[in-house]
Amino acid sequence: MALDNRGEGRGVWKSGRGKGRPVPKGRQLDDDALAEVQAILGDGPRRADLLIEYLHLIQDRHGHLSARHLRALAWELQLAQAEVWEVATFYAHFDPIREDEPPPPDLTIRVCDSLSCELAGAHALKAALKAGHDPARVRVLRAPCMGRCDTAPVAEVGHRHVGHATPETVAEAIAGGNFHPVIPDYERFDTYRAGGGYDRLMDLRESGDWEAVQEKVLASGLRGLGGAGFPSGKKWGFVRAGVSPRYLAVNGDEGEPGTFKDRWFLERRPHLMLEGMLIAAWAIASGLMQIVGAIRLRKEIDDEWLLIASGVLSVLFGIAMLAWPGAGALAMIFVIGTFAILYGALLISFALRLRKLAHATA
Ligand code: FES
Repeated sequence: MALDNRGEGRGVWKSGRGKGRPVPKGRQLDDDALAEVQAILGDGPRRADLLIEYLHLIQDRHGHLSARHLRALAWELQLAQAEVWEVATFYAHFDPIREDEPPPPDLTIRVCDSLSCELAGAHALKAALKAGHDPARVRVLRAPCMGRCDTAPVAEVGHRHVGHATPETVAEAIAGGNFHPVIPDYERFDTYRAGGGYDRLMDLRESGDWEAVQEKVLASGLRGLGGAGFPSGKKWGFVRAGVSPRYLAVNGDEGEPGTFKDRWFLERRPHLMLEGMLIAAWAIASGLMQIVGAIRLRKEIDDEWLLIASGVLSVLFGIAMLAWPGAGALAMIFVIGTFAILYGALLISFALRLRKLAHATA
């Protein structure tokens, strides 16, 4: 069996030379939806690894992800529908809608009901918001931790967060009509460099003692928060002793109580976080460092982040970095080593495209 993807017979599963089924299995491809998805994606590449970006573009244009658009997107990317659905339904900030469901109202309020917010009254807040708004105009949903546990309970009106939320402050946010995230002021690259930023990284890479660094991390008592509380210094040593290539994954998108500190640093002192990550990568001799979900709000991406993504770090430090918005997060991949500068040129074109996408969805 093979999928005929050309001409009028497209979408029909064929076996051998026969005619195949008159219609493909599952959801049928809707030509109008396909044309709309193609218009949204424009002339850009059709790459499966950009699936989340494409979902954002469709969600931003239509306010939700209809089954017909997801079907069309799967077709356009030559992916199985199940693959597109599982990504679209995984993230709390996407709104996949089945054929028999009405599209959501224009405004969605999400109320965090993870631990800190639940303890601070999220349950009652959500009930009050539901009771106080016409469901045909405003939808009230639960949502997982928004990384703002220090201001629990937290609500998100559109994409605007309301800390210490009450029905009254949420009503004020709605009346204000600005549903975009607030971008905090943060330390820029020049300021960080002027204060000696990245010097430590460069010194270490020049003549550093990785065992001394690992000892220092061990002595600091730094531990993983995944449950086992494993000492980070020890873990670094194990990883370094392993086979290459070695990977470092840094997750800035956790949601347990206390992790709001990660968001605070990532938003306000991003270079401090980046230098720490890069030192960790150096200490385990990682050729490739991945950072997953480093920044929570993709609409907070601005030109400086894109500048970094465009390969500035590759030129300065031999570290290439890819960055792209996830579903409520910015994900980055770093490539460290002699080939990094070669990647720089590639990254510049990637970052320009990212900038175009970010501006298109702003
Ligand atoms: S528990 Fe609500 S923001 Fe973290």
